[in-house]
Amino acid sequence: MQRGRREGVGGLSSHSLKVLFFSIKWKRTTHKSGLNFLLLVTKMLFIFNFLFSPLPTPALICILTFGAAMFLWLINRPQPVLPLVDLDNQSVGIEGGARKGAIQRGNDLMLYYFSEAKTVYEIFQRGLAVSDNGPCLGYRKPNQPYRWLSYKQVSDRAEYLGSCLLHKGHKPSPDQFIGIFAQNRPEWVISELACYTYSMVAVPLYDTLGADAIIYIVNQADITTVICDTPQKASVLIGNVEKGLTTGLKTIILMDPFEDDLKQRGEKCGVEIFSLLDAENLGKENFRKPLPPNPEDLCIICYTSGTTGNPKGAMLTHQNVVSNAAAFLKCIEHTFQPTPNDVTISYLPLAHMFERVVQSVIYSCGSRVGFFQGDIRLLPDDMKTLKPTVFPTVPRLLNRIYDKVQNEANTPLKKFLLNVATTSKFNEVKKGIIRRDSLWDKLIFAKIQDSLGGKVRFVVTGAAPISTPVLTFLRAAMGCPVFEAYGQTECTAGCTITSSGDWTSGHVGVPVACNHVKLEDVAEMNYFAANNEGEICIKGHNVFQGYLKDPEKTREALDSNGWLHTGDIGRWLPNGTLKIIDRKKNIFKLAQGEYIAPEKIENIYIRSRLVSQIFVHGDSLRSTLVGVVVPDPDMLPPFAAKLGVKGSLEELCQNQAIKEAILEDLQKTGKESGLKSFEQVKTIFLHPEPFSIENGLLTPTLKAKRGELSKYFRKQIDSLYETIQE
Ligand SMILES: *[C@@H]1O[C@H](CO)[C@@H](O)[C@H](O)[C@H]1NC(C)=O
Ligand SMILES: *[C@@H]1O[C@H](CO)[C@@H](O)[C@H](O)[C@H]1NC(C)=O
Repeated sequence: MQRGRREGVGGLSSHSLKVLFFSIKWKRTTHKSGLNFLLLVTKMLFIFNFLFSPLPTPALICILTFGAAMFLWLINRPQPVLPLVDLDNQSVGIEGGARKGAIQRGNDLMLYYFSEAKTVYEIFQRGLAVSDNGPCLGYRKPNQPYRWLSYKQVSDRAEYLGSCLLHKGHKPSPDQFIGIFAQNRPEWVISELACYTYSMVAVPLYDTLGADAIIYIVNQADITTVICDTPQKASVLIGNVEKGLTTGLKTIILMDPFEDDLKQRGEKCGVEIFSLLDAENLGKENFRKPLPPNPEDLCIICYTSGTTGNPKGAMLTHQNVVSNAAAFLKCIEHTFQPTPNDVTISYLPLAHMFERVVQSVIYSCGSRVGFFQGDIRLLPDDMKTLKPTVFPTVPRLLNRIYDKVQNEANTPLKKFLLNVATTSKFNEVKKGIIRRDSLWDKLIFAKIQDSLGGKVRFVVTGAAPISTPVLTFLRAAMGCPVFEAYGQTECTAGCTITSSGDWTSGHVGVPVACNHVKLEDVAEMNYFAANNEGEICIKGHNVFQGYLKDPEKTREALDSNGWLHTGDIGRWLPNGTLKIIDRKKNIFKLAQGEYIAPEKIENIYIRSRLVSQIFVHGDSLRSTLVGVVVPDPDMLPPFAAKLGVKGSLEELCQNQAIKEAILEDLQKTGKESGLKSFEQVKTIFLHPEPFSIENGLLTPTLKAKRGELSKYFRKQIDSLYETIQE
């Protein structure tokens, strides 16, 4: 081919050469499609042919190939995105010992991102405007494509529903609390927006809090109206009224169809039940002009479960939510700015603030929210259909993806390739090159990316700590920025987040733009702010107003200077990032007066490869600690075999020799990590069943429910103490 064209090219004038070079330069900066590459290469061949025509053919072909390869590499070379801040100096100290993120200019904290959107209501109105009434909420039936409600449809339906609430006697005022008891679905958002459109307050109810908690919340918040998804949930609420457990409930608005006998059951105990459709029609006939809230008005009461006692209703204002969403946008803007073409998948509970803040960010930019079908097992199918670009997630799910991929690499060759691919992709990520068009993506990671719809541009994980191997793997595999956020409901959702460009793990990033963070001495645990260690305290626009009707718990959380005490122990790393190292709450004194922080001890013991989970127990009446150990089901059998013991996991757990060997390993691990002798468990009980959310021993964020664990293992713990001489 080259030979055939040589004569023709030989006659090029210098003018046409210039044109050729020019057109190459132009192509290089503007186009990257395959066709253009081909064109470019052909043009290049012409030029080289022209310049090197006296050379023998093989040499010519060599030069041409090399040249073409170089050229392609040059124009195709991925460009790194450089971080905005010095990654060795990511947060800055301010007066009073607190720190702020280094991207923040002054000490003023961020209140809002868009000046026309200072309440959650205005955020939605902004979305309506910037998307030009684009698609807003998507939903689907099994095996069908997504269908969309536009921004205006959602806004209209919210106005009708809100008008109905006013018609039924609610006042347009932030002392009106409306219960929302539903899974994520468009009507959830419509119900919430109905409240905000008329300055009322949303109070999410959710199943995982437990039956008693639902009763507690309806009573504590004096809820008279609940908007509810299924007849089953309505039946639970009515049952509580029938049994006299709740008294104030007057109205249930139901999203799903329901039978007449439910309505009659309601009537008998003084609860009116009607459908959401009827409610909207009623509101349309009795329409009221929107009466939107002020930024300082209460917006939502978000109940949190905690590890003991009744749920606590964290009171959050519009400003709390808006400032947190704004800070989030600010912190990611260098890497990702949502547009009306972006779409997120909604499957994390809307009753939690993490998902609520993500959605506020989405609406403020006029982007879209597609809901999963309500069944987590169908999430992969929903993802493939929706093709979300924004993927908010939690470690539990990411761990599952990670485990699946690692398990599928079941031959040494596959394992090797996966490791090489991960290392090589992550090396790029560390340099700021985030892409999914490398060879490794095509060979190894495309499958993972496609399983999430193939379009994800942004991932944020929160709600619980994520391990370094999982986070690193995802950053390599996803080909998009993966942020980690840390926070709690009491600061709306997030108080620290990854700095754009810092893709290392082992820390939770830096303070977000709406709050400062400081560490306070916890002398009894030997943490001192002077050593850059202490209890994490937060002050800013996202810090909540207190717990509803619970001044005592509020005082424990919020000090008189407005600092939120999180109960987490943190450490400032030399590069200004924050690392969570411990938990303050669970401290007790042993009988001899020594302080014990059981979680610190558990975090050390968990390093023993034989241990999958461990619960360390002690109390102020005893002078020693005991433990309940769930052995690692993969590591225990080979370990037992070495001791000459065989059997099922249950049998191994009963075996005295195994128990002693594990105890010895624990104490060795503890000693190596500097545990004092009173901090070591003196004896243990082996339990074959993992602690889980399902069996009530872990919180939804995977923290140990210490009270429950003590209760659950009461008998075993008592008999452990009988076997040791205190
Ligand atoms: C870190 O940055 C701040 C301002 O952003 C500056 O004042 C300080 O000197 C820097 N520290 C180091 C160690 O570079
Ligand atoms: C920040 O410091 C921590 C601890 O020293 C380290 O693990 C992490 O890689 C550092 N981050 C960057 C971007 O250097």
